[in-house]
Amino acid sequence: MKPSILVSFLLLSSILSHTFAAEKYAAIYNFGDSLVDAGNLCVNGIPAYLATARWPYGMTFFGYPTGRCSDGRLVIDYIAQAFGLPLLPPSKAKNATFERGANFAITGATALDIGFFEARGLGKTIWNSGSLHTQLQWFEEMKPSVCSSPQECKEFFGKCLFIVGEFGGNDYNSPLFAGRDMMEAHTMIPHVIESISSAIEKLIEQGAVDLVVPGVLPIGCFPVYLTLFRAKEDGYGPQSGCLRKFNTLSWVHNSMLQRAIHRLRDKYPAARIVYADYYTPVVQFMLQPEKYGFHKQLPKACCGAGGQGIYNFNLTYKCGDPGSVACEDPAKHWSWDGIHLTEAAYGFIAKGWLNGPFADPPIMRSQRR
Ligand SMILES: *[C@@H]1O[C@H](CO)[C@@H](O)[C@H](O)[C@H]1NC(C)=O
Ligand SMILES: *[C@@H]1O[C@H](CO)[C@@H](O)[C@H](O)[C@H]1NC(C)=O
Repeated sequence: MKPSILVSFLLLSSILSHTFAAEKYAAIYNFGDSLVDAGNLCVNGIPAYLATARWPYGMTFFGYPTGRCSDGRLVIDYIAQAFGLPLLPPSKAKNATFERGANFAITGATALDIGFFEARGLGKTIWNSGSLHTQLQWFEEMKPSVCSSPQECKEFFGKCLFIVGEFGGNDYNSPLFAGRDMMEAHTMIPHVIESISSAIEKLIEQGAVDLVVPGVLPIGCFPVYLTLFRAKEDGYGPQSGCLRKFNTLSWVHNSMLQRAIHRLRDKYPAARIVYADYYTPVVQFMLQPEKYGFHKQLPKACCGAGGQGIYNFNLTYKCGDPGSVACEDPAKHWSWDGIHLTEAAYGFIAKGWLNGPFADPPIMRSQRR
């Protein structure tokens, strides 16, 4: 093909695929924690305790803090844009309409309810802002604003995309940050997976057909864990720069989650359930940062302790706290605040979920069987 023909062919196919994508879903409903919260804690104004709702959060894309724990868009924002849908409003927003989507995610969310943690003497380590099953309750309460009978709801939800997660990160943080043994976090995995599975089943029973279920991050690569635990850990991988035991925890969660998804696909053959991978892309950011335009260095938080500590992370000077500063080039970092990712990193992850290789199957190729 001549270059000009090739260009117009590419242009046409991108227009076509865009149109196709834009018509694919009537709405997106999203559940999760701070990786995908679009501001549910900020609908009545910014709470004084919430550093993640202060400048420089939002500096790259929105230009002001939105309650998103990043410098800009999150994976869910990129997915909404890819389907030609508006960015999902936080489900608690007073004024919003939810016919084209709602984001029930909330910072601090756990897969398990508070009672589970209280029974293990971990009640105080949980923020209890809105667990997965609390978010399902919020979904239930929203339903009358988008459909009016069980039949109508079922038909409508059959045309929507549901994203369930990530969940688990905050559940495991609870024993880990309380100084408990890693084994205790491992004993929680089956409970966390069971909770996520049962949420997926509830959504399918309400009519959901297309679902995306993300796994957890390789937490051992993150400045917060590296800062707090590296000195105490014998399993620091000089090659990867990550804490092995922490990544093993995430890996076991993710493989059990994928097994649960296989079981659900067998049980509900009409449903299309995508496993979305946060783990592999972040490990790639660590191993081949230059491939993504990131600085080749230890995983330093872009926004944090003003250069203190090898990971630029200090609990006393968290991003958004007085005394913290952001780097000038967030797009050259994958770690935004030591806990969450930059908009640049989320963009690469979203692309990998939509078109491959970071989802099974890629969301754009998930078709009725
Ligand atoms: C609700 O929407 C109206 C019109 O768009 C706007 O003027 C008003 O400020 C909004 N109220 C809140 C609480 O966001
Ligand atoms: C965090 O900051 C405090 C106060 O300046 C300092 O004492 C401490 O060593 C710092 N921790 C790290 C990991 O840099």
